[in-house]
Amino acid sequence: MLFRIYCYFCVNESYNNVVPVIQDNKERALCKYQKPRSLPISGRLVWPFRFCFFSVSINFIKNIYDMELPFSESYKIKMVETLRKSTRPEREQWIREARYNLFNLKSDHVFIDLLTDSGTGAMSDKQWSEMMLGDESYAGARSYYKLKETIKELLGFEYFLPTHQGRAAENVLFSAIVKEGDVVPGNAHFDTTKGHIEFRKAAAIDCTIDEAYHTQQEHPFKGNLDEDKLEAVLKKYPKEKIPAIIVTVTCNTSGGQPVSIENMRMVRRLADKYGVRVVFDSARFAENAYFIKMREEGYGDKSIRDIVQEMFSYADAMTMSSKKDAIVNMGGFIGMKEQALFRQATTYNIMFEGFITYGGMSGRDMNALAQGLHEGTEFEYLQTRIRQVQYLGQKLDAYGIKYQRPVGGHAIFVDARQVLPKVPREEFPAQTLGIELYLEGGVRGVEIGAILADRDPESRENRYPELEMLRLTIPRRVYTNNHMDVVAAALKNVADRSASITRGVKIKWEAPIMRHFTVELERLQE
Ligand code: F0G
Repeated sequence: MLFRIYCYFCVNESYNNVVPVIQDNKERALCKYQKPRSLPISGRLVWPFRFCFFSVSINFIKNIYDMELPFSESYKIKMVETLRKSTRPEREQWIREARYNLFNLKSDHVFIDLLTDSGTGAMSDKQWSEMMLGDESYAGARSYYKLKETIKELLGFEYFLPTHQGRAAENVLFSAIVKEGDVVPGNAHFDTTKGHIEFRKAAAIDCTIDEAYHTQQEHPFKGNLDEDKLEAVLKKYPKEKIPAIIVTVTCNTSGGQPVSIENMRMVRRLADKYGVRVVFDSARFAENAYFIKMREEGYGDKSIRDIVQEMFSYADAMTMSSKKDAIVNMGGFIGMKEQALFRQATTYNIMFEGFITYGGMSGRDMNALAQGLHEGTEFEYLQTRIRQVQYLGQKLDAYGIKYQRPVGGHAIFVDARQVLPKVPREEFPAQTLGIELYLEGGVRGVEIGAILADRDPESRENRYPELEMLRLTIPRRVYTNNHMDVVAAALKNVADRSASITRGVKIKWEAPIMRHFTVELERLQE
């Protein structure tokens, strides 16, 4: 800066024969000048005025030169998709026809779709190029080996099986390891994970830290497992009854919240102590690594890929929904370190998914997936992604709308009971908020509350989870911050009329398991 002030001075004094020869900002050492001749009297008298002008100009120049450049995306757009706006009467009709279930809406009837970040991301030019290079051989396809090498290199798993998506990976792996009467501790298991456990008449035990259930409490790693809760389960049941500890990174159910490396080390230590396997549910592992880099002491200077390697060094196996952090529209896999487990799982993979070297995927999709794993673990991409979610969070802060803090990796989880305090729990406030937001702006979120929590498999009573949230899930590389502005404004408008929203919805029909996908609802009126 001193250099700039000095140069400015030289330039302004040039008419007094101070001649700057500044060739380039970078070449500071080469700045030369000639000494000024002595000033005439008239020149001396104007000095105070010059000084004022001088300081004003310095500030002006300082502002020009020192302006911090704003953040912007690490990619540009090559192809676009048209979005159609609708009117409120149209949306009223469509949501009624959908039986007030947001999953039943046609996507053409949605303006901004924040239902999920699963399979909804935009592939890159390099991923599309990889599609053309796919090898569709039934056995031994080049694409399989490309993906195998990528998984080994980036994630460190020797063995892998391709599946058509994440829940298929769970189905195959759990067929090999989970049996009736087992218990599977973990951090707020995702619904399909829990579904696959309960379907096998085993129990998923939630060991997430208590802080995760207080939306306004700030904690850098709300996905962490509680050591005491986990050890209590490991002590209570014999190891034969515990097929695995499941660590979900990031933890979707608690708000896309990350798990720290320190916590992963704790889980590994307890797993070794009690002789139990650790499986990572890894759909958003790269976002988790980003948070470790930004928030955990000692990791700020490490690369995302180094952090990813360390994360998976604490796991025996992983299931992956590639539709998230591998930025493909469809795909999944299982990564394993033990050959025995790989052999066991292979039988089920062949039965349910397909032969070992394609599982549930085409060669071209395996190619795009391998490329997506590389792109999804780049710092600049992750920074762009997470900063967009944080941008929406800042907008909601400005409007006083409460959500799970701090902002998660893939979504904002709006605290529905705080936004619609008059809607009783039995009338599903998060679903009600989802319907209101759709009616307001054609924005589709998704309920993460009592409808999703389903009924208790034994008592068949409704389960009311600690948190009743509306998830606004942001697809990767798809929407702009202008879209985020629309979402925030629509939510604010709903919040502004919350005093008049006193009734919610009633279930008219539901499936025996994973009811949220197909449930049919009726709107209750005052
Ligand atoms: N695990 C986690 C943590 C998930 O978030 C999901 C899917 C799965 C497993 C299952 O993967 O969909 O490929 O079969 N989550 C999506 C979501 C559906 O909207 O959060 P899948």
